[in-house]
Amino acid sequence: MACKGVSMLTRLRILCSLVLSAACVPALFAGGGHEPSAGHNLEIFSWWTAGGEAEGLAAMFDIYHGKYPWIGIFNATVAGGAGSNAKSVLATRMRGGNPPDSFQVHAGHELIDSWVVAGKMEPITFLFRDNGWLNAFPAGLVKIISYNGEIYSVPVNIHRSNILWYNKKIFAEHNLKPPESLDDLLSLSDALARAGITPLALGDNGIWAAVHLLESVLLGTMGPTKYQGLWSGATDWSGPEVRASLTRFVSLMRYVNTDHAAMSWDAAVQYVIDGECGMTIMGDWAEGYFKAKGCTPDKEFGWVPSPGTRGSFLMLSDSFGLPKGAPDRDAAVKWLTVAASREGQDAFNPKKGSIPSRTDGDRTLYDVYQKSAMDSFRSDTIVPSVTHGAAAAESWVNDIQDAIALFMCDLNVDRTIAALERAARKYVK
Ligand code: GAL
Repeated sequence: MACKGVSMLTRLRILCSLVLSAACVPALFAGGGHEPSAGHNLEIFSWWTAGGEAEGLAAMFDIYHGKYPWIGIFNATVAGGAGSNAKSVLATRMRGGNPPDSFQVHAGHELIDSWVVAGKMEPITFLFRDNGWLNAFPAGLVKIISYNGEIYSVPVNIHRSNILWYNKKIFAEHNLKPPESLDDLLSLSDALARAGITPLALGDNGIWAAVHLLESVLLGTMGPTKYQGLWSGATDWSGPEVRASLTRFVSLMRYVNTDHAAMSWDAAVQYVIDGECGMTIMGDWAEGYFKAKGCTPDKEFGWVPSPGTRGSFLMLSDSFGLPKGAPDRDAAVKWLTVAASREGQDAFNPKKGSIPSRTDGDRTLYDVYQKSAMDSFRSDTIVPSVTHGAAAAESWVNDIQDAIALFMCDLNVDRTIAALERAARKYVK
């Protein structure tokens, strides 16, 4: 797939957020030599370093800088998809009483169970009331960022986890149609493998990416009601649906790149861009990555809901909150105001691959994939992503990740079911 190269500025920004000292980052991100001032600095903590996500964050920083040029911005990123490294760094900092001014956190259980219940966050209901945001965000979303009548974060986007992305050139050359069901996926994978192309790209050097794939397989096998039941206790983890899902997952492993355990999620997407692999199942931050690499939706890459999940939207949302003891609380409140604004969201999301969490985003700014995601978000059954903090407490997610880390080594369905069931018993009564 011939996609245009990444701009020099983008390369510089990504490189800078990865390797340069904290002191030079604010200058680059603030768009033109603005140094942090002695009194006003904003430290934003996230894991957005990959193509698409880094550009989206930079776009919000640009808006912040335009409004508050006297405040320096420190882009405190810890690389590693889904926060696989950032979350433990954050936990250490929060435990040590050294919070950033604001940090990326998934709306739902991750926010509430990890930080709010622990008493580490300030309620920001006043911001929602004073700025009229209660009318700007969907009520269902406000519900999952609330606890005991107070609101605790600003959701900056809606991401969809259950998407299969594919290389259009490969599919056209081999006369293939994107798969609708998991059985289709297996037979299509077989056809690709016979043609000498690795069918499915996976980059699970962070084990979350394997769990990410599994959540799509669970949903595609059992449907939204039973999938939801996994988190409420209504669906039995030792029942036939989980067994069928894990069995299919084992079959799929025959078709993934052999170096998957050494690769990151974005390297897996790059395999699809380069034509090394035919497809990948990843959240729509992959769309941001494709575009950051110069690819155009529906030209070089196509997409369908993960096999078997059409009609369901596996949802997650990135949000920012106000930790108690934020060193520059005023700068943080201003950040939350930018993150909640229509302008902020419409600068961030077109690059990120996500859609705005506000209901009044400017649809004309979004591409054909994102428009389809907006439509699906309106009409589909919304189900929460477990990998990305919406469905279950982080400690449960960690237990699932441990079970799947072993599963990726031994592909032992019985042992994995037992481990998943043990984990579930700890969290649902
Ligand atoms: C998710 C996050 C996305 C994206 C992805 C890969 O957990 O919600 O915004 O960053 O990880 O890093």
